[in-house]
Amino acid sequence: MPLFIWKPSYDTGVPEIDHDHRLLVGLVNELYEAMKQGHGYEIVEELLDRLLDYAQRHFDTEEGFMRAGNYPKFADHRAEHQRFYNDIQTMDARRRSGRLPLSTEMLDFLCDWLRTHVSTSDKDMGRYLQRIQS
Ligand SMILES: [Fe+2]
Repeated sequence: MPLFIWKPSYDTGVPEIDHDHRLLVGLVNELYEAMKQGHGYEIVEELLDRLLDYAQRHFDTEEGFMRAGNYPKFADHRAEHQRFYNDIQTMDARRRSGRLPLSTEMLDFLCDWLRTHVSTSDKDMGRYLQRIQS
């Protein structure tokens, strides 16, 4: 049983964005499954690489849609993205000094992001983008 099951109600209605969000949920569940089998720590390093890549690409996509639609909460939304990116860059810096984040720490961090950003701020953005398209 995965930790986080995607519900259609989390969809923003923008296919590119929803595709990325599902991918992120997949990463969270992969980590959780590995942790249940006692291998969480072994995949944290690869997960961090995938997150650094994911975040940059995905935030560019979202910010492109927000800019194009003149989303009024763009600055606040972008600040949340920057906080997330700063946090994973801090984890990357820690890794370089030999202190890789714990799998539990990574899982908490990502679940918090799904709760506080993906299913709230991104939903709000999605509602706006759908409204201006209709
Ligand atoms: Fe976002």
